[in-house]
Amino acid sequence: MNKKSPKMIVLNVSILVITTVILSSRTVYSQDNVPAREADTCISSNCHITMGKDKFVHSIVAEGQCSVCHGKSPKHKDSPKKYKFEQIEEIGKNCYSCHKKYETKIYVHYPVTEGECTGCHSPHGSGYKHLLIKDGSSLCFDCHDEYIVSKKYVHGPADSGGCIICHDPHSADYAMNLRERLPELCFMCHTEKAKEFAEAKVVHKPAVESCTNCHNPHSARKKFMLDDEPPTLCFKCHKEKKEEVTNAAVQHGALMVGKACLNCHEPHASNIAKRLSMVPLDLCMQCHNKQVKATDGRLLTNMKKLLEENKDHHGPIREKNCAGCHNPHGSDEFRILKEKYPAKFYMPFTIESYKLCFKCHEQSIVQSPETTTLTSFRNGNDNLHFKHINSPTKGRTCRACHETHASNYPKHIRKSVPFGNWEFDINYVKTETGGSCLPGCHKLREYDRVEKVDNK
Ligand code: HEC
Ligand code: HEC
Ligand code: HEC
Ligand code: HEC
Ligand code: HEC
Ligand code: HEC
Ligand code: HEC
Ligand code: HEC
Ligand code: HEC
Ligand code: HEC
Ligand code: HEC
Ligand code: HEC
Ligand code: HEC
Repeated sequence: MNKKSPKMIVLNVSILVITTVILSSRTVYSQDNVPAREADTCISSNCHITMGKDKFVHSIVAEGQCSVCHGKSPKHKDSPKKYKFEQIEEIGKNCYSCHKKYETKIYVHYPVTEGECTGCHSPHGSGYKHLLIKDGSSLCFDCHDEYIVSKKYVHGPADSGGCIICHDPHSADYAMNLRERLPELCFMCHTEKAKEFAEAKVVHKPAVESCTNCHNPHSARKKFMLDDEPPTLCFKCHKEKKEEVTNAAVQHGALMVGKACLNCHEPHASNIAKRLSMVPLDLCMQCHNKQVKATDGRLLTNMKKLLEENKDHHGPIREKNCAGCHNPHGSDEFRILKEKYPAKFYMPFTIESYKLCFKCHEQSIVQSPETTTLTSFRNGNDNLHFKHINSPTKGRTCRACHETHASNYPKHIRKSVPFGNWEFDINYVKTETGGSCLPGCHKLREYDRVEKVDNK
């Protein structure tokens, strides 16, 4: 029915009244195309007797206007293939003679482009609303692979056949025939997530771009509609982190246990820099609130207990920043330290080996034998930091005197020092202008910045 026959035009005039009745607000009908009632000739002719008996009937079929679509071709009866219409495939493409155009939006579903309305709609009648030939997702799976909902975890709306909640079956303003842009599409239902994003200070760039960067909208192999879980998921984009983590000489157990990266990071948004789920100290205490077994089998100190028992916390710890010294992702340095720091008690001095401490402190405290300003640890002008540490053979490392994390003594001086299997108390006493110690390894030594003490 591509061209209007003169016969049709005559008919058209006579059906003006009917057309007015069936005009729908949603649907634009061309008044020119609706012919007179033919029910008597087709439906009741004992030929097409079941026509019009479905639950939902196309109103023109109900009206018996068969020839609107089929035409009144005399060939109907004479056709070599009896009861079949010559141009039957073309008929389906003529729906637009009454219905509004469906390819008005940018992204048109392929069958609509092709005018294959009957790929989804029955032209006559059907048991399903909107004259659909099937309902739910089975309609779509006539043409699409059911594989998309076959993975272990199926998304609620896709599971219940709600394909058209997200996809417009005809045409849409967004690619993949989506009714909304991403992530708004997801926020239609996940309103709590919309709120989370709007209120958060730090949001993950791929999440505001598209939730489908990580989630499968249909079904997925892993929980939470994920095809990959952290860390694999995260490493897909964070290639540099993958390098860092897998090549680190000292790896951190935190990435291997529990929720891996999500032990510390939020996948979507948070109020803390780097989208941490808590401030670093609290993160660390999730696991280091007990003795944790290191990869070398050693039991690591219970840090929570240590910090509770030692009230004077080192600056960065007061700022809750354990990551000031440790790299939570692993490191080439022992104890996953961010910078070099001697692992042993004694160490030939080089300034590089103390890079960790001198990230934040003045390295000049260990560099000159004499000073009146650089450090308080001096006897007269003799720099005692220099004296103890700056030795080419057997320099004492900072740990000989200082606790790195916390202590109950002034200036983070430690209570005791290990010596073989023994611990000797240092007995540090701080005075107004100096101090003294009486460790097990030597007799009482004093220093005084004003009146140099002779310790001999
Ligand atoms: C809206 C257009 C339209 C109207 C109105 C219409 N048809 Fe059809 N008809 C079609 C199309 C399109 C096909 C091809 C079948 C397909 O693609 O599913 C068809 C196919 C048929 C067929 C053969 C295949 C089948 O489904 O049995 C018969 C018979 C038929 N129509 C009878 C009728 C009769 C009788 C009426 C009037 C009561 C009628 N049609 C009204 C569009 C229409
Ligand atoms: C002669 C005019 C005309 C033609 C041609 C026509 N339709 Fe219709 N169609 C109507 C009318 C009138 C209605 C009833 C309007 C209503 O219920 O909103 C209707 C209703 C429908 C509905 C149901 C809408 C609903 O909300 O339930 C669908 C689907 C539909 N038509 C599809 C088609 C398809 C597919 C074709 C082509 C095969 C087609 N129509 C050809 C006039 C036509
Ligand atoms: C891929 C399947 C599919 C194809 C192809 C398709 N439709 Fe639909 N159509 C639907 C579904 C599903 C609905 C009901 C859901 C909705 O309202 O979006 C619908 C609803 C409709 C409606 C009633 C609601 C409305 O929007 O007014 C009409 C009329 C309609 N389609 C006409 C057509 C016409 C004309 C064509 C061909 C140009 C067509 N459809 C092609 C699936 C399809
Ligand atoms: C009559 C067959 C047919 C039916 C039924 C059908 N589709 Fe399609 N659909 C296609 C074809 C053909 C393509 C184009 C395929 C391609 O480009 O790979 C397509 C493409 C798509 C696309 C991708 C669009 C893009 O830009 O690549 C989506 C999404 C889609 N269909 C969803 C649906 C949904 C949802 C349903 C059910 C409401 C459905 N389809 C029913 C034939 C169909
Ligand atoms: C929650 C919303 C949502 C639902 C429900 C949904 N889809 Fe999709 N679908 C999407 C999004 C988003 C994309 C685009 C994915 C992308 O860009 O990676 C898509 C893509 C597609 C594609 C093209 C790409 C592909 O993965 O093959 C098809 C086909 C498709 N959907 C069909 C369906 C069918 C069939 C259903 C019902 C079983 C369905 N969709 C249900 C959101 C949805
Ligand atoms: C039509 C409403 C709807 C839309 C739109 C929707 N979802 Fe869902 N989503 C649900 C329902 C319902 C569930 C199942 C809820 C449950 O099991 O707690 C769900 C579950 C999920 C889950 C798993 C939650 C869990 O706790 O296991 C994720 C992840 C998810 N959706 C992501 C998305 C993404 C991404 C989009 C956009 C592409 C999206 N959703 C769009 C309704 C929707
Ligand atoms: C960078 C990857 C990524 C992106 C992008 C992403 N998510 Fe998620 N999402 C995840 C991961 C990983 C989980 C699992 C969280 C867990 O195990 O606690 C998750 C869990 C969820 C859950 C269920 C648990 C919860 O937090 O409520 C929902 C719902 C969800 N995401 C929705 C969304 C929405 C909506 C978007 C887009 C605005 C989105 N996601 C974008 C990675 C992502
Ligand atoms: C689809 C790619 C993609 C995936 C998957 C992904 N990210 Fe991201 N991530 C990004 C992008 C892009 C940025 C923004 C980088 C920028 O702004 O320089 C980012 C930023 C980050 C940041 C903040 C970096 C900074 O310097 O502020 C962290 C932390 C992060 N992602 C962790 C994760 C974690 C954990 C996962 C796994 C749950 C993950 N990402 C999965 C792409 C991704
Ligand atoms: C033990 C807690 C913890 C775990 C587990 C963790 N991170 Fe981090 N991540 C952090 C902290 C803390 C920062 C801030 C770093 C800083 O201040 O030096 C950070 C920063 C980042 C950054 C920003 C760039 C940078 O290095 O500063 C990215 C990207 C990142 N993490 C990705 C990941 C990925 C991917 C995983 C999983 C393989 C992961 N993180 C596991 C605590 C963790
Ligand atoms: C000022 C730098 C610095 C800060 C800040 C810091 N650490 Fe350390 N941490 C170190 C150094 C150095 C070592 C190695 C100590 C040694 O072996 O002498 C270490 C060792 C450790 C160990 C191993 C202990 C053992 O028994 O061998 C754990 C666990 C630890 N730190 C956790 C933490 C936690 C948790 C925080 C935050 C509360 C934190 N660190 C803050 C420097 C720091
Ligand atoms: C999810 C649990 C978890 C979290 C959170 C965690 N860790 Fe660990 N950490 C471990 C485990 C398990 C080990 C022992 C295995 C190993 O040595 O890597 C460990 C080992 C360590 C070590 C010793 C590494 C070595 O082998 O020398 C240090 C230092 C450390 N963690 C510091 C931190 C810091 C700082 C944080 C916070 C930024 C933190 N950890 C957060 C589980 C965790
Ligand atoms: C991330 C920065 C940072 C690193 C790394 C760091 N410190 Fe500190 N340190 C501080 C801050 C901040 C203070 C507090 C200063 C204040 O209260 O005025 C402090 C205080 C001290 C104090 C007490 C000083 C005083 O005057 O009370 C000592 C001793 C000390 N650090 C030793 C070390 C040693 C040893 C190292 C290396 C293992 C180290 N620090 C690494 C930041 C750091
Ligand atoms: C032999 C013991 C000893 C060693 C080893 C030692 N310190 Fe000290 N340090 C002290 C004493 C004692 C004080 C307190 C001086 C005072 O205020 O009277 C001090 C004070 C400090 C201060 C406060 C500022 C200052 O200089 O007065 C810093 C910072 C410091 N030490 C860092 C370090 C670092 C870094 C190392 C390793 C490179 C180190 N110390 C090694 C004993 C030591």
